[in-house]
Amino acid sequence: MAADDTVLPAPSGMDTPPPSQSPKTILLKVYRHNPNANAGEARMVTYRVPYRRGLTVVDALLWVKEHVDPALAFRYSCRMGICGSCGMLINGEPRLGCETQIAELESDVVEVGPLTNYAVIRDIATDFSDFFSHHRRVRPYLIRTENGALEPPARELTQTEAEKFAYYQFTMCIMCGLCDAACPIVAFDREFLGPQALAQAYRFAADSRDQGWRARRDIVDTTHGCFRCELAGSCSAVCPKGVDPALGVQLLKRAVLRGRAPR
Ligand code: FES
Repeated sequence: MAADDTVLPAPSGMDTPPPSQSPKTILLKVYRHNPNANAGEARMVTYRVPYRRGLTVVDALLWVKEHVDPALAFRYSCRMGICGSCGMLINGEPRLGCETQIAELESDVVEVGPLTNYAVIRDIATDFSDFFSHHRRVRPYLIRTENGALEPPARELTQTEAEKFAYYQFTMCIMCGLCDAACPIVAFDREFLGPQALAQAYRFAADSRDQGWRARRDIVDTTHGCFRCELAGSCSAVCPKGVDPALGVQLLKRAVLRGRAPR
């Protein structure tokens, strides 16, 4: 994906730890491209970054941004695996940059790039417009009437443990988009709702408090809906929260074929 490979040394000066304090460095190869600025082809730029115990990929990118190039673009917020902002390709795999320690990669050369299946806005920052649009399309909230109107419940809606267990794992989704980045169907069909949105469709369809099955079924049982999934399973393999979107999509297919909500 790169046209060039330039090694930039760590700058000297007060911000750079002297070699005696930081004897080890890593090579961070970062995808650089600004499609909107007519700034030439995408290229990989290599930075030498001081290593310390516990250093994450986001830490390393921040070091580059603070010490070498403030224009480096990437997304992050919580730095604790909660917000889902820092999805990126790390040594070719979709991962969270804030949860990936350099040490676990077992290499002194780390390659970082934008998530696949998303358009690049700049460098590692990608465009999530389609992803959020697909998420919104499956109506990711409890629908309390069959005609789709949202109405506040007149009483507390209780559930048994078993009813909660039916959908609970899918509530762990942090919308990081790694599953869609790993999906081979999303790669060629950008209208495919994708594993994240479909798993969330299942999450609400399987909730005993929801009454919106008909409306949601008509959204997922389409050309670009759940039956587009070919069960590669790569979405579940990369989820940082242990969610199994591939399972959600298969359960959704079963519900559509049975003609009733999945409970
Ligand atoms: S910065 Fe929030 S999940 Fe990584």
